[in-house]
Amino acid sequence: MSRLLHVVGARPNFMKVAPLLRAPSPHPVEHILVHTGQHYDAAMSETFFRDLGLPAPDVNLGIGSGSHAVQTGKMMADLEPVFDRYAPDWIVVYGDVNSTLAAALVAAKKALKVAHVEAGVRSFDRSMPEEVNRVLTDQLADLCLTPGISADRNLRREGIPDERIRAVGNVMVDTLLALRPGAAKLQVPEQMGVAKGDYAVATFHRAGNVDDASTLTALLGGMSHVARTMPVLFLVHPRTRQRIKDFGLEQHAAGVRLLDPVGYLETIGLVERAALVLTDSGGLQVETTILGVPCLTAPPNTELTETVESGTNRLVAPTVEGIAAAFADVRRQERAASPPARPALWDGHAAERIVALLS
Ligand code: UD1
Repeated sequence: MSRLLHVVGARPNFMKVAPLLRAPSPHPVEHILVHTGQHYDAAMSETFFRDLGLPAPDVNLGIGSGSHAVQTGKMMADLEPVFDRYAPDWIVVYGDVNSTLAAALVAAKKALKVAHVEAGVRSFDRSMPEEVNRVLTDQLADLCLTPGISADRNLRREGIPDERIRAVGNVMVDTLLALRPGAAKLQVPEQMGVAKGDYAVATFHRAGNVDDASTLTALLGGMSHVARTMPVLFLVHPRTRQRIKDFGLEQHAAGVRLLDPVGYLETIGLVERAALVLTDSGGLQVETTILGVPCLTAPPNTELTETVESGTNRLVAPTVEGIAAAFADVRRQERAASPPARPALWDGHAAERIVALLS
């Protein structure tokens, strides 16, 4: 029996771990779920556990917010005794959040084997905390489990040997395909009072976008421009809400509906029927690719080039003019009758491949 200890902490981790806990395995496996508590608001954590059918974590460290150093340091100190207690065969870490790097670093120093799910994705922008977390986690991981060949290429360029790299596919797609029918049943657009196919969904939370007053002002202005044509539902991350308040930018969001974050099923239910998504979220870039929904991504770089190559995702400068021009283009283009071909290995079976490898 292999024991896999999964470390998650923030919203985008939860949809990535869910399919692994459910995946059939050729050999017996035991799963231990550890939540660092990096995200703790019900809307950022509990709702996702419920929507994704996740079991209650075996351990919740309740770390909470703090500077990067404080948050990462506290996580490391508290993860160490947990790893000692469970002595797992593999520590499995996800994505690019501070919890990911903290767990990988503790495990590597204790000579525990680390598998990194969603390895190799790169923005090539080291000013992003997520990029630092990714690069370092991949260097530490014994097994880099990538969503596809562009990520494999990035890892080789950084000197990671082939025997540590496995292309397994995109676990977010596993979750999306499994939960999409349930999300559609909720009739979210009707609940929110918008007409199917005639509204935009927006999310922005990256530090580079929201911690800078002029960039955040421009993003709000861009959303406000779109709101003159169709309703814009802005699902506001707690960090972003705080910044709008700190900088006093409410008046720049004229016409935009500022809403609290919603759960996974509601998000998917909304996005599936949207005319457009405006975002800086890596997850939404993947989800719009599979659902065939036009997506405008700011800042103008993406970790997942597949989403741009497949035709739904477009990178835009975080300016009112940049967003307005891209929006006009989207309005001009006839929407394809069916979603584009899915990138290779984005087939809903990534988690099975991972569990087969680790077990
Ligand atoms: C983190 C990840 C980011 C991911 C994002 C998804 C890092 C470096 N960043 O960013 O990659 O895309 O999660 O949401 O790990 N806050 C709350 N309630 C919560 C959590 C946070 O109010 O439940 C507020 C606090 O003011 C906190 C701030 O949001 O200081 C930022 O939270 P933090 O976990 O540091 O980073 P995120 O911006 O959420």
